[in-house]
Amino acid sequence: MLTKKIDLPVQFYTTKHERSEVTIDNKNVMKINGGIPLSGTVKTQGAKNAALPVMAVCLLLRGETLTLDNVPDLYDIHTMIETLESLGVEAEIRRDSKVSQVIFRTPDELKYEVSEALARKMRASSLVLGPLLANCGRVSLPLPGGCSIGSRPIDLHLKGLKQMGADIDIQNGVVHASVKGRLRGRRIYLDFPSVGATENLMMAASLAQGETIIENVAREPEIDNLAAVLRCVGVTVETEGAGGVRIIGIDKAHSGHERVIPDRIEACTYILAGVMTNGHIKVEDLVPSHIDAILAKLEEAGAKFSVKKSTVEIFPSKKRLHPINVKTMPYPGFPTDSQPQMAAALSVARGVSTIEESVFQARFLYAQELNRMGADIQISRDVAIIRGVDGLQGASVKATDLRAGAALIIAGLAAKGETRVDDMIHVWRGYEAIDQKLRGLGAKVELV
Ligand code: UD1
Repeated sequence: MLTKKIDLPVQFYTTKHERSEVTIDNKNVMKINGGIPLSGTVKTQGAKNAALPVMAVCLLLRGETLTLDNVPDLYDIHTMIETLESLGVEAEIRRDSKVSQVIFRTPDELKYEVSEALARKMRASSLVLGPLLANCGRVSLPLPGGCSIGSRPIDLHLKGLKQMGADIDIQNGVVHASVKGRLRGRRIYLDFPSVGATENLMMAASLAQGETIIENVAREPEIDNLAAVLRCVGVTVETEGAGGVRIIGIDKAHSGHERVIPDRIEACTYILAGVMTNGHIKVEDLVPSHIDAILAKLEEAGAKFSVKKSTVEIFPSKKRLHPINVKTMPYPGFPTDSQPQMAAALSVARGVSTIEESVFQARFLYAQELNRMGADIQISRDVAIIRGVDGLQGASVKATDLRAGAALIIAGLAAKGETRVDDMIHVWRGYEAIDQKLRGLGAKVELV
């Protein structure tokens, strides 16, 4: 679990040596004076969930460089950079108002042991498993533990690696994986289209001998971004077609340069904030086709918006949202990462909505916090039953996880009076400068 004393991501530095020692103490609470319709324009950051795996691609290199553009400035990103640095990679961060680039220089020899402290900070540290094993022939990774949205095993990652010839031994909570010679290309069927397992196995297959076909893969846009980054270092990757993902392993990866896609979940958080405050906002620099499921549900609920090439514009409406039923599913279904924010918006709809969570076991911890603000949400197993109320009132609430925090913030923006969102540490994992972006839309928010 995250502790409260951490170094926060800091904007506008150029190398790791210039990172200042800001602690969470002065940024762990957001105070919101709600009830103001948002207005203005907000730009979407690079996607956290795309950046994390593509950064791990540098572990496939030897004596080469991977340059990534549009990397967001987030706590999880810095944890991944620290993890890569601990394995011997040099990371140079170039950030100003226009550029957000990270250059990874991978040495000829990488270390292969991930520290417990880093592995426990973030589940996505498991993404180093596949590339490190493929490149070094061995890896030790402390298991990344559960988290507040449900148990998060990595059995599918390990099963796939075993099929490719890895020996895997788990001792005292540490995964020790090794392979004699190279991993071997295989046909692998995933029992569930896990995003992380798809990514780990794609990276492992990139240096494996021969062809790997992964079936029943995740289809999230982040997978296509990873495929593009793997291609830029010389790997042949095909993601089209019913067969899944096909990868032909190479002997040595070369230097490459690619761009991280826009963050569809961040974009939807602002879209839902606009809808919920009955505001008039433009969310720019996104890929509308990546958020089709959310836009379809918003249309069904009667929200007023227009979609252009890379912008969604939200218009105020005289009517409250209609109630709707939502079920989270792997892409292209409705994303589990947007369901808490959608629940916040539906908490003031005219009637009873339901949200069924089918990806994670326990993703409703935010409900009791929203209820403190006057919402009426009951949880029955995997389903949230949301009885729309006339309006929310400000209250003191806690972000129980990253997206729960986002839901509470947008609820606070729409609520009357003052809301205090505690444990913002979770929110900084995934939202770059959210306080500044909201102020840019006219919201009254401050960090204390
Ligand atoms: C990624 C995202 C996360 C998002 C999730 C689902 C990143 C860094 N995180 O997480 O924000 O909510 O996709 O869209 O990209 N499972 C197993 N065994 C495994 C792997 C997964 O049982 O080996 C289960 C999980 O417990 C969970 C479900 O599969 O119930 C989905 O997990 P997965 O798709 O792997 O999500 P992550 O990659 O962890």
